[in-house]
Amino acid sequence: MKKRTEQTIFVCKECGYESVKWLGKCPECGSWNSFVEFKQAKIEMGRKISDFQSEVKRLNEISYDEKEYRIITGISEFDRIMGGGIVLGSVTLIGGEPGVGKSTLMLQIADRIVSTKNINGQYYKLLYASGEESIQQIKLRAERLNIRNENIFILSETSLENIVKVVEEVSADVLIIDSIQTIFSDFLPNIQGSVAQIRGVTAEVIRLAKTKNITVFILGHITKEGDIAGPKLLEHMVDTVLYFESETVQNYRILRVYKNRFGSTSEIGIFEMTSFGLKEIPNPSEFFIQHSENLVGTITTCIIEGTRPILTQIQALLTKSYFPQPRRVVNGIDYNRAMLVISVLEKYTGINLIYEDIYLNIVSGLKTKETVIDLPILVSIYSSHKNININSKSVYIGEVGLNGEVRPIGFINERIKEISKLGYKKVFLPYENKKNVDSSFLEKSNTELIFVKSIKEIEKIV
Ligand code: TYD
Ligand code: MG
Repeated sequence: MKKRTEQTIFVCKECGYESVKWLGKCPECGSWNSFVEFKQAKIEMGRKISDFQSEVKRLNEISYDEKEYRIITGISEFDRIMGGGIVLGSVTLIGGEPGVGKSTLMLQIADRIVSTKNINGQYYKLLYASGEESIQQIKLRAERLNIRNENIFILSETSLENIVKVVEEVSADVLIIDSIQTIFSDFLPNIQGSVAQIRGVTAEVIRLAKTKNITVFILGHITKEGDIAGPKLLEHMVDTVLYFESETVQNYRILRVYKNRFGSTSEIGIFEMTSFGLKEIPNPSEFFIQHSENLVGTITTCIIEGTRPILTQIQALLTKSYFPQPRRVVNGIDYNRAMLVISVLEKYTGINLIYEDIYLNIVSGLKTKETVIDLPILVSIYSSHKNININSKSVYIGEVGLNGEVRPIGFINERIKEISKLGYKKVFLPYENKKNVDSSFLEKSNTELIFVKSIKEIEKIV
């Protein structure tokens, strides 16, 4: 028999970093005074080896049918980022700032889950446990969303033990906890919302999910400051972590995958908040293109988010500098990458940018780490410097090397397909990609491909 006594550790409530000592500043995220004491639960291992029943199987003998293990909600933006539907018995954490729309999203997903049948031909049952709102408030939201399904059970409760009891009572297949910060357990020390409580409650919920095969969604508020422990602390415990973010432009909401044991982490789902709830945006390109007229310094490009090509625009503004060292302000683009492109531009085209401030931006608040935006950045700066209007029906894609060469990029055909589908007339792309281009789908379209070898030819492509 093995026994481990209670162990005290210190946890950063901003990022979840653990330390055996209390620290004033977190070495991980740099927050000050963010460490709180956390007593880890006692683990007792009383089971004898002889009690153990093994379920070992040969890999090739294990049968598996994807459809039996996932719930397809039909909200394709959501199914895609989950890796093709919700895995049964999985635990998903959805974090976001208060008011972004987590409860709305979850209620809409709940409605789709209970409209789906399991492999025995029965509809799924779902318990929505809210520690934040009364059942009338949830009903009010549901009415607004036109959701009335009898298999959604609503419970306004903050005690974990009571929630677990109700899960059994209504024999729920799916449990939604809104939000983790409001739920507490009588068997855990500390106050509601503390590190010990939210971790302890989450551990208990995961145990429920894994032992009873209940699919769980945990909602959590991200708080930039304040004393409530946030979802960051739970990331390593759950199967999937999604963050729901609001974009600066209009009412867009982006659902990002931060971690997924059952799918890719580079997907994003795009929604719009309307007066009747969240609406999917299946064609994001049309949303991230804001300018359809010819402008100075505005360049259309095509990035890949996850598996999807999205057209968006890069903007540069160059103005006379009044500083001893000119300003370089970059938004949504990697700063060092932008500096590299500026240096290459100066070196190989002979223009001088030392007397100008440069402001660079991706329209609509998108962010990307793709190097395919090198060429559009370069062209946008050049266009603003020379005050040349850029044809809004042209698209630029390409990485730029330190010798001024335009380097090949990935997913070339996916990008060209999207660009030509949306009716763009010209694509400037790396010469080296010529051999990979599948020209068959271009035969019917009016899109012209212009291959670029080096930025020394810049005058010809702008
Ligand atoms: P909510 O889901 O309550 O956010 P969270 O759970 O993340 O705190 O929704 C927040 C906002 O969404 C709220 O300001 C009202 C707005 N909203 C709409 O615009 N349309 C709708 O149909 C609904 C239900 C909410
Ligand atoms: Mg809410």
